[in-house]
Amino acid sequence: MPKSPGGALLSGFSIERSSQVPIYRQLEASLRRLILQGSLTPGQKLPSTRDLCQELGVSRITVKSVYEQLVAEGYAQARTGAGTFVAQGLDFEASPNIRRRRQRNSDADVEISDRARAIMSSQASVRHGETEPFRPGIPALDLFPIKAWNKYLLDAMACEQRHHLSYGQLNGSSSLRDSIARHLNDARGMQVDPAQIVITSGAQQAFVMIAFVLLNKGDVVWYENPGHIAGRDVMQIMGANIAAVPVDNEGLDIQFAIDNHPNPAIIFTTPSHQQPLGTTMSLVRRLTLLNYAQQNNAWIIEDDYDSEFRYRGRPLPALSALDSERRVFYVGTFSKSMFAAIRTGYIVVPPGLVDSFAKAGNLLGHGSSAVVEHALSCFMDDGRFVEHIRKMRRVYRDRRDLLFECLMRDCQNNLDPQPTDAGMHIVAWLKNTVDDQTAYNALLTAGIESLPLSVYCTRPLERYGIVLGFCNAHERRIPDLVKRISRTLRQHG
Ligand SMILES: Cc1ncc(COP(=O)(O)O)c(C=O)c1O
Repeated sequence: MPKSPGGALLSGFSIERSSQVPIYRQLEASLRRLILQGSLTPGQKLPSTRDLCQELGVSRITVKSVYEQLVAEGYAQARTGAGTFVAQGLDFEASPNIRRRRQRNSDADVEISDRARAIMSSQASVRHGETEPFRPGIPALDLFPIKAWNKYLLDAMACEQRHHLSYGQLNGSSSLRDSIARHLNDARGMQVDPAQIVITSGAQQAFVMIAFVLLNKGDVVWYENPGHIAGRDVMQIMGANIAAVPVDNEGLDIQFAIDNHPNPAIIFTTPSHQQPLGTTMSLVRRLTLLNYAQQNNAWIIEDDYDSEFRYRGRPLPALSALDSERRVFYVGTFSKSMFAAIRTGYIVVPPGLVDSFAKAGNLLGHGSSAVVEHALSCFMDDGRFVEHIRKMRRVYRDRRDLLFECLMRDCQNNLDPQPTDAGMHIVAWLKNTVDDQTAYNALLTAGIESLPLSVYCTRPLERYGIVLGFCNAHERRIPDLVKRISRTLRQHG
């Protein structure tokens, strides 16, 4: 229980004995605060060490050492035989910092920069921590081979591998870059020189780095609408002029963009599986986009976040595989194919820019861990990565089929689910008049975590819809959960 010393002088002063903060530190902090707030004024005598230690029930040595510390810091002055006093000449009123600190009672009072304001208005504040079923983008974490992975981590930490305990290579471990280059060749049809790869702490850090290196203030960025929220917001915050480009059944509407937003510096796209609508960009569109970028000196960011999961036919080659002029920054992540906490992704950087990206990574905080990089490289080289993807592809295909079937059966009055051949989520248009934010809130209250389509948009779509991830919901639970979706939406219809 906190104990308050008596006397007007020290009212509001308390000690929390159960706190992990040592008592002397609490005492020091309280006295500093009282002086800064002006509750104790310059020249005012502090209680004697004897009185204060009795009042607070602490040792006299503790109080003495606190007073000595305040004297050393200049908050107090000791006068031999007379006691300890609040230091003279401390004009806190003249200090704008202190005045401001006194005025601040809540976050709302804090003066923030334009950038902080832009950050605060981002829609990318997905819920962190615990997830509810159907949260988009979450893999089946319970099926990840944790024991096997731990062995790779332990090996990377072995005594003879102490060099992994340091920062690692500037653009990521060469063995991981080799493993990734081989994987991109096998799975994405890309001929990549490992020297072009820069390891990041995930796709999001890749977008931050690209914006950091390439963007000039006011540059036009073509961005899919709807599109990946956090990538869009970081470009905007870094000064880009985001041009919302609609997506049709062939992908990014390039003609619309050329007509309305000429001269983009960067074009952001998810050609394998449009986030969130799920469209695959047609070959004609891919070639048109590459030609346009080449002729207009625009850079393309290809976000290939979940291309491992295609359920019909073989995965399509990446857009980057067609890019003879090297205008594409190919971005990959292990957040979906393995798990997000691995915080590892990469960029295939066009020639001539690798050094600036490696240095940018250093300036932005070396994102990935050499230990994890080594473990991941061995995991890939031993075939464990591809094996896991193959297993998950089967599991996710079954979950997708079951979710689609249940939605068609139980939610036909409220939802129009869209078939999908790839990815980790289903888009379902809302059939009744309820808006998607209301539907999202109601479902979340019922323990179902969708995402409203409107958060992916900077220009409203003609229809409302919700996005339902199917990878993290167990087959056993899907039928009942869909019935719950149906009941909830009926109540809000
Ligand atoms: C389309 C898309 N791109 C990129 C990312 C970012 O992934 P990472 O965890 O690698 O930063 C996500 C995350 O959900 C995503 O949905």
